[in-house]
Amino acid sequence: MNYRHAFHAGNFADLVKHAGLLRLLSELTAAGAPLTVVDTHAGRGLYDLAGAEARKSGEAEAGIAKLMAASDAPPEFRPLTNAVAALNKGGEVRRYPGSPWLIAEALRAGDRYIACELRAEEHAALAQALKGRPGVRTLNADGYLAAVEQCPAQGRVLVLIDPPFEKPDDYDRIVETLAALRAKNPKVQALVWLPIKDLETLDSFLRDLEDEVAAPIVVAETRMRPLTDPMKMNGCGLVLVDGPDLAAPLAAICGWVAQALGAGGDARVYPLSPQ
Ligand SMILES: C[S@@+](CC[C@H](N)C(=O)[O-])C[C@H]1O[C@@H](n2cnc3c(N)ncnc32)[C@H](O)[C@@H]1O
Repeated sequence: MNYRHAFHAGNFADLVKHAGLLRLLSELTAAGAPLTVVDTHAGRGLYDLAGAEARKSGEAEAGIAKLMAASDAPPEFRPLTNAVAALNKGGEVRRYPGSPWLIAEALRAGDRYIACELRAEEHAALAQALKGRPGVRTLNADGYLAAVEQCPAQGRVLVLIDPPFEKPDDYDRIVETLAALRAKNPKVQALVWLPIKDLETLDSFLRDLEDEVAAPIVVAETRMRPLTDPMKMNGCGLVLVDGPDLAAPLAAICGWVAQALGAGGDARVYPLSPQ
């Protein structure tokens, strides 16, 4: 387990994931019964962009720094840029919020958040970042297993699945976990993040998902460059399972990232199953 998100925090893929997540949370918390959010791969919650890892990779410089300076970014990014500005008290962007911070800030009184992180030191930082927040629990556990164990059998649930894809079985475990979650609670909605390296891997994952999970599924692809080198992360995908209609905001988010931050990039949003 070598993956450390500190090298990647605030990169183009985080911008897509976090802007999409905030838009989804704003829809799900606009009204309705209490919501439980389960984050299977939470990370440390807050990231230091002045730290050695972020400076070494330069990914935040090519991502969140450009978004914060952009004058042409669509309004769908505003919740994320507002959150980043608030976290940095309106000054220089030295800290970047991970999904736990963004989720905890977005939830209403009465909503619940369960954040799972397997790596002990990341979990310790996560617990510290979320300390004292009502309705929030962190677990130092395997997020795939914990999500199914902890998922309430009734009520509204959103599951965020954002693995590091270090292990070849991550794709299969996502599908198995979503099938088990929906069998336990048919109201489970989910947002999954995926890297795009080559189309075969993405297509085979989507076929398996469609076979195992009977729900409307929407895919939002952000391609940063043509997919000519499968060894590179050429883009990223967001897969929304049984969510509200976010086709237009996702197209705006993915489209801006691909065009403003990519090289010959492109974006597409499409339904997988009949809506
Ligand atoms: C891509 S990062 C998560 C970033 C976070 N979701 C965000 O948006 O800020 C993936 C995290 O999953 C953790 N991890 C790896 N395998 C795991 C597992 N089976 N269960 C829970 N966490 C795991 C890694 O240590 C890493 O911190």
